[in-house]
Amino acid sequence: MSRFPRPFEGTWTEHYPELGTDPVTYDDSISPEFYELERRAIFKRAWLNVGRVEQLAKPGSYFTKEVAVTNASIVVVRDREGEVRAFHNVCRHRGNKLVWNDFPREETEGVARQFVCKYHGWRYGLDGALNHVQQESEFFDLDKSCYGLVPVHCEVWAGFIFVNFAHQPEQSLREFLGPMITALEGYPFGRMTERFAYRTEVHANWKLFVDAFAEFYHAPVLHAKQSRERYAAAGQKLGFEAPYYRIDGPHRLVSTAGVRNWEMGDDAVKRSEVLTRGGLFGPWDKPDLGKMPPGVNPGRCDPWGLDSFQLFPNFVILIWSQGWYLTYHYWPTSYNTHTFDGNVYFLPARTARERIAHEMTAVTFKEFALQDGNTLEATQLSLETRAVDRFHLNDQEVLLRHLHKVVGDWVDEYSFANEGQP
Ligand code: FES
Ligand SMILES: [Fe+2]
Repeated sequence: MSRFPRPFEGTWTEHYPELGTDPVTYDDSISPEFYELERRAIFKRAWLNVGRVEQLAKPGSYFTKEVAVTNASIVVVRDREGEVRAFHNVCRHRGNKLVWNDFPREETEGVARQFVCKYHGWRYGLDGALNHVQQESEFFDLDKSCYGLVPVHCEVWAGFIFVNFAHQPEQSLREFLGPMITALEGYPFGRMTERFAYRTEVHANWKLFVDAFAEFYHAPVLHAKQSRERYAAAGQKLGFEAPYYRIDGPHRLVSTAGVRNWEMGDDAVKRSEVLTRGGLFGPWDKPDLGKMPPGVNPGRCDPWGLDSFQLFPNFVILIWSQGWYLTYHYWPTSYNTHTFDGNVYFLPARTARERIAHEMTAVTFKEFALQDGNTLEATQLSLETRAVDRFHLNDQEVLLRHLHKVVGDWVDEYSFANEGQP
């Protein structure tokens, strides 16, 4: 027997009256002016995830992150005391980029005892302090203690490293995340260290890609060719409806049911999936992760497929019932381009068979994501013609209304507070 939560009555969208049911516009995704507002109103005020603590294995481990949307390059480092810190990646002498390898626009990572500027050799400790100035006596009134690296607010939650570019963040990270997200504490993110990473440049506004993964209405149609005919046909005939949606502050959740293709019989499964025991839903053999925290599958969907937690503004944690998780980041680079990062995480494989199932899952995910990304470029192009400016959303697309509303609200609030300022 399947058991799915339903709204008490009516539709999901009706439960969030502030979202309305009217057709929407996508003016916020095709406007260079609006994008400039988003940069200041959202990306310089919200907590942004830039990585995980496992990327900083020991004191001195560091990575750099290019954040085009805030016009920043940062270096994130574990200091001698084990604390994770973030700094602007800018030398205090004449502004050279401090940490980079062969190409100054590329991100890098490594382990260091200190950071040495490639230009004139100023040296900074892992705590950002300016420790050494070449030929210091030739400078005028230079007090080294005042010229450490410029810090960026940095906090860690559940092993996820977040930064905030505001002078003074309006909320702590925990307050910003709120109860729906912090209820995930206890999920074994830290044990899932086998990681497959993808990055792609997408010629579409960042919000359009968030939208693409916020509804499953498209799945039986757009991804039909990825599945065996019988599975795809069943999906198209019945449609697909996610059983649970939730909104908490600026963040969103959609959960899916878990009708896995291998449970539908042989002709719904590809031969490659049978051989590798892996595929879109993950490895067929589920690891024992112990008791799940209350934040996982909060709608108590049964059967349950996945939870897609969309953390405002640009970060998604997708927890699969098969015992693995994915993250997405959408990093805007202009009003109609962004960089998409997909990361797939598993418990480290103990056998070759497990590793093969993981690899099959990771490449299957990549194929789906490419299909989604490709469609977005077509959407962006046609939205930009402005030939049509009102679009209908169905009940399964409730989270899209929410993202665009929250974006609009943050921009309005910021514009109101800064009225008259350049
Ligand atoms: S710019 Fe870094 S030492 Fe001169
Ligand atoms: Fe998709």
